[in-house]
Amino acid sequence: MQKIKISPSILSADFSQLSNEIKKLEEAGADMIHVDVMDGHFVPNLTIGPPVIKSLRQHTNLPFDVHLMISPVHKYIKNFAEAGSDIITFHPEATENINETINLIKSLNKKVGISLNPNTSVSIIEKFLDKINLVLVMSVHPGFGGQEFMPEVLKKIEELNEIKNKKKLSFDIEVDGGINFENSKKVKSAGANILVSGTTIFKDNNGNIKKNIDALRTG
Ligand code: DX5
Ligand code: ZN
Repeated sequence: MQKIKISPSILSADFSQLSNEIKKLEEAGADMIHVDVMDGHFVPNLTIGPPVIKSLRQHTNLPFDVHLMISPVHKYIKNFAEAGSDIITFHPEATENINETINLIKSLNKKVGISLNPNTSVSIIEKFLDKINLVLVMSVHPGFGGQEFMPEVLKKIEELNEIKNKKKLSFDIEVDGGINFENSKKVKSAGANILVSGTTIFKDNNGNIKKNIDALRTG
């Protein structure tokens, strides 16, 4: 199996201690930091924006894996790039022109991700797969941490993995939402190589972050 990366979502961290929480994640072997940005419009919840990312940037060298759940997204891309994002992921429904948003992120020398909601099909982004770095497959309806994994998305992960192999493409397949020690195996064998997790990493095993990251990676 390919190398598995773990991207802990700071949505489940203690927001009053964010820089310490990120240090703990780094020490525990996280590969990147998943930052969930919500606008109360594209999704029914509000979180953080560029100023918080900017102030966290000086506390870690880990890549910031920034998941934008905001609409319209295009006009904010530059702010997120300048704040110190490394991977910028958007939802296709949140832009008027998918191609232009991809090109803008690339022009800012950032990695491009596109996220698929549970009800969004692969066909919508198929023609862009050779241009992007990552597909973020949502295994919950975006908006909140702590929701239950939707097993029907396993088929979508397999479908993406098939296209990837057939066309010899190199995009990462990242899965986000409700990942736990049971479904992580299925997600990996379907073809995912990056797992996002908030609740499992911060809350399981009495909050033993290292144990939880290791178990998600190798379990
Ligand atoms: C949901 C977010 C996820 C979520 C992951 O909208 O994109 O990143 O917070 O958290 P858990 O692992 O708790 O589902
Ligand atoms: Zn996310």
